[in-house]
Amino acid sequence: MEHIPVLLKESVDILLAGRRVAGGQGVVVDATFGGGGHSRSILERSALGVSVVAIDRDPAAVLRAQGLFLEFASRFKLLAGNFADISELLDNAGINKIDGLLLDIGLSTYQLEEGERGFSFQSEGPLDMRMDPTTGEPAADIVNQADYKTLTKIFRDFGEEPYAAAIARKIVEIRPQKPLLTTRSLAALVEDMVPVYKRSRRHPATRIFQALRIFVNDELNALEQVLNVGLGRLEPGARLVVISYHSLEDRLVKQVFRQASKGCVCPPRVPVCGCGKQQKVKILNRRGLRPQASEIALNPRSRSACLRAIEFL
Ligand SMILES: C[S@@+](CC[C@H](N)C(=O)[O-])C[C@H]1O[C@@H](n2cnc3c(N)ncnc32)[C@H](O)[C@@H]1O
Repeated sequence: MEHIPVLLKESVDILLAGRRVAGGQGVVVDATFGGGGHSRSILERSALGVSVVAIDRDPAAVLRAQGLFLEFASRFKLLAGNFADISELLDNAGINKIDGLLLDIGLSTYQLEEGERGFSFQSEGPLDMRMDPTTGEPAADIVNQADYKTLTKIFRDFGEEPYAAAIARKIVEIRPQKPLLTTRSLAALVEDMVPVYKRSRRHPATRIFQALRIFVNDELNALEQVLNVGLGRLEPGARLVVISYHSLEDRLVKQVFRQASKGCVCPPRVPVCGCGKQQKVKILNRRGLRPQASEIALNPRSRSACLRAIEFL
């Protein structure tokens, strides 16, 4: 199944209204290329003077960029790597300031649906979950080697799983006889640990899979890094758009945006500002933008999406 881009019109409208991009110039970075849906739309809807630099850490996503290279030639570039290293990636490509930055975080449909990648409990596959399968530790190593305390912390911190301790205890108890090497074996164990009357509409393993994925790919640190470094690269009038899919990501985005949008933090009674802090950005939508019912009906995966955007001053 193809990946359907989420909040496509809304996100691209915001990016194209950035000062230089609206004037027909500039570089927009799509730091989560995936299937290229957002990159394509930015290229199609902008003037010839606007170029897109895409980033993805998944080698399979990098291969999918061929079509855009052929169609848009010098207006499109793809940098393979982790967006946490955005500074280095842009420096190596000879790019300093940018006029837009898009982060559509999470997984693409391609990653979720390919059983071999181990992201989904709905298809059988090795417990891997690495976005870049050439580096780092697969989820199976963590599940079969981390101690009880570490597993509990991962499930609690990154999955907000109420049965974190019980599930971690069961994993540690069972794995010496029966290592948990596949998606289905882990999902079945979690299912057994969550009482039927406590289950919601979501599969009981959803939170555990989310937690492991975030841990394996160090997702929250990568997000914090790209946001902070990205802010330093934006030209005045440039826009930064983030589409996130769960509350941990959204909380982090809100926090970084709020911090950057604050000016002087001196106490009100101080006559002259001593902190020197200046407001760097304007928040474009305080409450976050969610997909319309019509989008969710067409693409149920969009239902948890939340878009937040800022403009650099
Ligand atoms: C939701 S998909 C993006 C879909 C894309 N906007 C589209 O419309 O086709 C997220 C993509 O971001 C990539 N990704 C996630 N975290 C990343 C990171 N830290 N560095 C680089 N790429 C990352 C994933 O590999 C995945 O391909």
